[in-house]
Amino acid sequence: MNVLLIGSGGREHALAWKLAASPLLTKLYAAPGNPGIAEDAEIVALKTDNHAAVIAFAKEKKIDLVVVGPEAPLTAGLADDLIAAGVKVFGPQKIPATLEGSKSFTKRLCAENNIPTAAFIETKSREAARAHIEKHGAPIVLKADGLHAGKGVIVAMDKAEALLAVDQVFAMGGNAPVVIEEFLDGEEASYFCFVHGEQVLPLASAQDHKRVFDNDQGPNTGGMGAYSPAPVFTKEIEQEVLEKIVRPTARALSKAGTPYSGVLYIGLMITKDGPKLIEYNVRFGDPECQVLMPRMKDDLLTLMLATANGELDKSSVRWRDEVAITVVFANQGYPGSYKSGAEIRGIEKANAIEGVTVFHAGTKRDGDKILSNGGRVLNVTALGKSVTEARERAYRAIGLIDWPQGFYRSDIGWRAIEREKAR
Ligand code: AMP
Ligand code: GLY
Repeated sequence: MNVLLIGSGGREHALAWKLAASPLLTKLYAAPGNPGIAEDAEIVALKTDNHAAVIAFAKEKKIDLVVVGPEAPLTAGLADDLIAAGVKVFGPQKIPATLEGSKSFTKRLCAENNIPTAAFIETKSREAARAHIEKHGAPIVLKADGLHAGKGVIVAMDKAEALLAVDQVFAMGGNAPVVIEEFLDGEEASYFCFVHGEQVLPLASAQDHKRVFDNDQGPNTGGMGAYSPAPVFTKEIEQEVLEKIVRPTARALSKAGTPYSGVLYIGLMITKDGPKLIEYNVRFGDPECQVLMPRMKDDLLTLMLATANGELDKSSVRWRDEVAITVVFANQGYPGSYKSGAEIRGIEKANAIEGVTVFHAGTKRDGDKILSNGGRVLNVTALGKSVTEARERAYRAIGLIDWPQGFYRSDIGWRAIEREKAR
């Protein structure tokens, strides 16, 4: 098979690395790619927001499957255009991609299908928003509609902060309604399933670390590290999530004539009243994908093809017993402003450690040098028999990478490690 992978982050490097190992693969292309992806794929200069150009490329190169990594091309309708042109695609079409693109779309779907989620109101009125906050107090959560790269959500711990945030979320969401919801107390976990119509193939769980600094301090980021599986996500919780959240969602979208096809990212809060949906994303998580791919025993391309073809009922997937952890090596200043272009040395030394794979997220190549080129720059990933072992390998590997302008959290995996110590 000829495959075109769209995207340029650490998630897409992990996908490229796993696709490159597929016995079904003839040739992997990637656009826009990155220097890590270039080791597994041929990078092509293709403007991926030009759907006609993507279609023309797919026809010319006889692409059997287009794999879309990030959400933006999906909410822009790339999958719709590819399907209309007869090109197979892994990733949902525009309307089901609204699960990620619009908070109020997802909250309504939850309300109509009894899906456990935080109690909420949606409103277009700043007055009504303020009145709701006055009545319910804090903590409380405000969410702007649309894609805001993780910055559209404000978790206000006191009432004054919540009232101040009202203008901010209305400004972000344009004319769309703002969602104000109950604060959920618990431990967060994410869960991934391949979905086609009403067919669901459960994958695995992971736990991200969203705050920039150790001890979950500082501003929210796209994610500073992750591990899989998440011990908080037990078999019982998994069954409950499948029956109460994932299947009703797949059914509702199918009944509406807008079936989902692709990977569904289920963001959960595990509360004392059971799992509740925080959000859906219509793609793999970044950096969660980087810990799922090394654990997947079966062939990713076979599974992605089965998803696109609606053959998930005949599919199964096996996972290694080992756990995986990834530590994000980020640029000083991230998630604020930072400087790109500093040289990074020693990636090959890190890769030489048993169980370690370094995925590129924000790098560029200059001759034989690798330079930083973004906020989240490398994802140092390790397998191990326990989170404790995987973490030791990952931090040993990151210590071999010479990049003085970088920083990382030193406590990735702390919740799982506390659990391992308590055993
Ligand atoms: P989202 O963009 O929906 O993923 O929200 C970003 C982050 O805000 C989540 O990962 C949670 O940590 C937090 N969050 C969102 N909604 C809630 C909620 N209802 N209660 C507590 N925390 C929340
Ligand atoms: N790591 C969080 C996300 O991909 O949305």
